Parts: sequence; C-alpha cells; structure tokens
Amino acid sequence: MSEKEKVNVDLSSASRLLHPMHTVLVSCIGKAGKPNIITLAWAMPTSINPPLVAISIAPRRYSHALIEETKEFVVNIPTMEILRETLFCGRRSGRDLDKFKEAGLTPAPAKKVKPPIIKECVAHLECRLHSQFTIGDHTIFIGEIVEAYVEKEAFTELYNLEKARMIFHIGGDEFATLEPKVFKPKL
Ligand SMILES: Cc1cc2nc3c(=O)[nH]c(=O)nc-3n(C[C@H](O)[C@H](O)[C@H](O)COP(=O)(O)O)c2cc1C
Repeated sequence: MSEKEKVNVDLSSASRLLHPMHTVLVSCIGKAGKPNIITLAWAMPTSINPPLVAISIAPRRYSHALIEETKEFVVNIPTMEILRETLFCGRRSGRDLDKFKEAGLTPAPAKKVKPPIIKECVAHLECRLHSQFTIGDHTIFIGEIVEAYVEKEAFTELYNLEKARMIFHIGGDEFATLEPKVFKPKL
C-alpha cells in the first residue's frame, strides 16, 4: 500500500484538524434584559455528576460580557433547518443588532434561568456559571446544567439522527451533517 503524504499545517490553523465540530447556539442575556445568541463550535461536556458543559468564548465577543454579567446561559442545539441562522449568529454581533429579530429566531422563556431558549432548536441545556478560566486567547466558561430537554421524537436515550440533523462546522462558512447511519462495532 502506498504511503499517504502528510503536510504540515500552520500552528495557527491546527485547531481545524479537530473539526468538524458539533455546533451550538448559546443564548445569553445582559442585566438590562436584552437577549443575545452566539454560535459556537468549541463546546463539550466535561462532567456527568455534577453535569457540566464547557464553552470557549473569545473575550471580545459581546456574549462574553453578557455571560459574565448574569452568570447564566443556555446551550441550544440547532439542526440543518436553521443553518443560515446559525451562520448569521456567528457572523454578526449582538452589540450592533438584535439577533433573535434579525435571524428570525424565536425566544421562549427558559425553565430555570434568565436567558431565553431558542424555540427552533431541537434541545436545550440550561446552565448556571460554575467557573471560568482564561485559557490563551479564549475564556472557558463551565456551565452547570440545571435543566435539559429535547424534542420527544428526536431522542430516546440517544439522538435519532433521522429526526435531528445536527450541524457540524468544518471551518469558515462550510458545514456538514451526519449521514443518519449508525455503526455498532462488535468487540
Ligand atoms: C460556525 C461558527 C463557530 C464559531 N465558534 C466560536 C467559538 O467556539 N468561540 C468563539 O468565541 N467564537 C466562535 N464563533 C464566532 C462568534 O460566533 C462570532 O464572533 C459572533 O458574531 C459573536 O457574537 P456576539 O458579539 O454577539 O457575542 C463562531 C462562528 C461561527 C460561524
């Protein structure tokens, strides 16, 4: 078998080798009560008990200030039906416009936290800020999940990929979704 050539990647682009990353929409709100949405590819679960999720946000983002202000956020899971809106919320700042209004997304009251959920998303994880760390040029916000819910038909213990076509960020303005095919390797 011929060996495949490997090329060096500039270190400033090395994170792209970890993509495609599951992309989420985080909703947050300032003390003044104006809600915002930020698109994030850098998000991951970090603990089961207590249930914790980590999101990584650059300090210059408007959402960064909002999360520090009210110490709550919601991780909403978008699907391919709102791909354009997902890119929009990742290209425009809530400093300049109302992203709910301009993207045509619907805010609905969360169960336990102040930021609204995004109704068009398939699932929602309501979080209270557990801790935060400055890591290089981003801040990792750790959220304690205080409430989590999902569209009934899209989830029974695990996601049904036919019903929930999640968004994965390849890089730039390129996205992918999963082929709804499940593999169960035998060990
Ligand atoms: C697909 C995608 C993924 C992104 N992921 C992140 C991320 O993980 N962390 C981050 O700080 N910004 C990320 N961004 C950039 C922010 O979403 C973008 O700067 C946004 O306009 C900030 O909004 P705000 O100023 O209203 O907070 C991403 C953008 C896109 C399009």
